[in-house]
Amino acid sequence: MPHSLLKNKKGIIFGALDDKSIAWKVARLVKEEGGDIILTNAPVALRMGEINKLGEELNSPILPADATKVSELEDLIQKALDHFNGKLDFVLHSIGMSLNVRKKRHYTNQNHDWTHKGWDISALSFHKLLQVLYNKDALNQWGSIVALTYIAAQRTFPNYNDMADNKAYLESIARSFGYFFGKNKKVRVNTISQSPTRTTAGQGVEGLENFLNFSEKTSPLGNASAFECAQYVVSLFSDFTRKVTMQNLFHDGGFSTTGVSREIIENF
Ligand code: NAI
Repeated sequence: MPHSLLKNKKGIIFGALDDKSIAWKVARLVKEEGGDIILTNAPVALRMGEINKLGEELNSPILPADATKVSELEDLIQKALDHFNGKLDFVLHSIGMSLNVRKKRHYTNQNHDWTHKGWDISALSFHKLLQVLYNKDALNQWGSIVALTYIAAQRTFPNYNDMADNKAYLESIARSFGYFFGKNKKVRVNTISQSPTRTTAGQGVEGLENFLNFSEKTSPLGNASAFECAQYVVSLFSDFTRKVTMQNLFHDGGFSTTGVSREIIENF
């Protein structure tokens, strides 16, 4: 049942690719909660066409932007400000891609051009986005910016490959830029560390199905679904979390603080 948590709030959602995407679920829920959105993704993702269905369903404009290109981000943010005829209240960065993962290059034998590209897309794009939002003064006071991350930034998960390093960098940007956004704009910046989830990006990780089961059996509350992640994102966009900033927030059913569970031990 909707609660109008985001009534009169306006924002941009990056990263809805298909109906499995976490950003797809966030977009739907934001609308349900009374928010108004612009959808964006890389031009190549727009050409795939799936996102048009979401745009039609939600009656939301879809604007292309490659998040690694500052000029495209500037264009996007300006168009969003013009479209809404005012500043934004929330932004979701739900972007990730590793060529080493995709092309099955082992962590110990990376193609560093691919590493660089993956880092630009998955991590540095967050700094580029924040910098454009900051310099354009694009957010209202008490606005909220969220990016999605994974616990491989803190602990080793060998199959996560170079995405682990990208996520560590991403989380650090949220803290570093979060300071300036808090101090000078009264805007919060956080990352949500989500359970493994069956999506296009998630499926690139080798052994995902076994890992999903391991994670499910380790977490006292079970894995968090993409829809539950959307609910958490909405709470961070709402006025109920105004003083939460510069945090990496685990949304993982308790996985991050569980050493081992009974179910896992019994498997041995
Ligand atoms: P997804 O594949 O649906 O979303 C990734 C998005 O990144 C796609 O929409 C893709 O088009 C976009 N993208 C790639 N390159 C881009 C570029 N140059 N410019 C703009 N957008 C670009 O997968 P998912 O799982 O919804 O991923 C969303 C976020 O959640 C990512 O940051 C991912 O690392 C994170 N995450 C995912 C988990 C999982 O198990 N699926 C677990 C924890 C975090």
